[in-house]
Amino acid sequence: MSRVSYVNGRYLPHKEVNVHVEDRGYQFADGVYEVILVKNRLLVDEIPHFDRLQRSLKALEIPSPMKRQALKMVLEEVINKNKFKDGIVYIQITRGVARRDHGFPKFSKPTLVITARSLKMPGEIAESKGAKVITLPDIRWKRCDIKSVSLLPNVLGKQAARTAGAQEAWQYDEDGFITEGTSTNAWILDQNDNLITRYLDEAILSGVTRLTVINLAKSEGIQIVEHPFSIDDVKNCKEAFFTSSTSFLTPVTQIDDTIIGDGTPGEFTKKLLLSYMNYIDEGPQNELER
Ligand code: PDD
Repeated sequence: MSRVSYVNGRYLPHKEVNVHVEDRGYQFADGVYEVILVKNRLLVDEIPHFDRLQRSLKALEIPSPMKRQALKMVLEEVINKNKFKDGIVYIQITRGVARRDHGFPKFSKPTLVITARSLKMPGEIAESKGAKVITLPDIRWKRCDIKSVSLLPNVLGKQAARTAGAQEAWQYDEDGFITEGTSTNAWILDQNDNLITRYLDEAILSGVTRLTVINLAKSEGIQIVEHPFSIDDVKNCKEAFFTSSTSFLTPVTQIDDTIIGDGTPGEFTKKLLLSYMNYIDEGPQNELER
């Protein structure tokens, strides 16, 4: 399948897209991004993704390159030009091209890049069998709520996980509490059936999947506790999983050397994954109230 991408107003074959060598995203990681799930050719949860994109741009004082409605049209055009049914769109906005100097340039136009690719759904993927997770100290900056393209600690963490034969690394703060995965939010079900995920602050990204799963769980009468949990809490939990737009709800069956439950995906997690898959299948018209 030939991929088509969008750069600053132009739709081009993916192999031909490029940005300038002095783009500040390339030189300083001075930019933000979003990854939105596409199911049945429709954007999933576009409103919270657009809201978060706006928050990230505002935090870095990068002007929005276009209005929401226009961005939505471009995304839909990119989806149309790429022929997959289920996939993701990647949006990246940087401060633009300028002579290298750390401070903001006086004049620069944001660079907008959109790429898209297909994505396998759970059931088709090995992760649905359950993932191994390792733990690592969280060495990231103090504004992880901003979805910045500056992801080096996340890259190193994910690679450490892969080297250890694991799918994800859960990072822990100075007090030994899990913040989040390198590209996912972390969850446990404790022995008293409390579903626990860390509250939102500047230590974690406000995951859109996290928000949707909270809303789905609440609508099913499940008790949610938004609170930090420790590595020991994970080792003693009933079930664990992580969430993101690309990993959905992935059951965790091992953390470091400790097997969780009986080492297979838990019933509770599998049920919640099913609710999530139904939700994304139903399309945006059924988006939950936020
Ligand atoms: N990552 N935490 C971090 C650090 C993330 O990078 C992500 C998403 C999430 C989950 O967010 P959401 O549910 O909105 O996808 C949590 C994307 C998928 C990525 O970097 O590819």
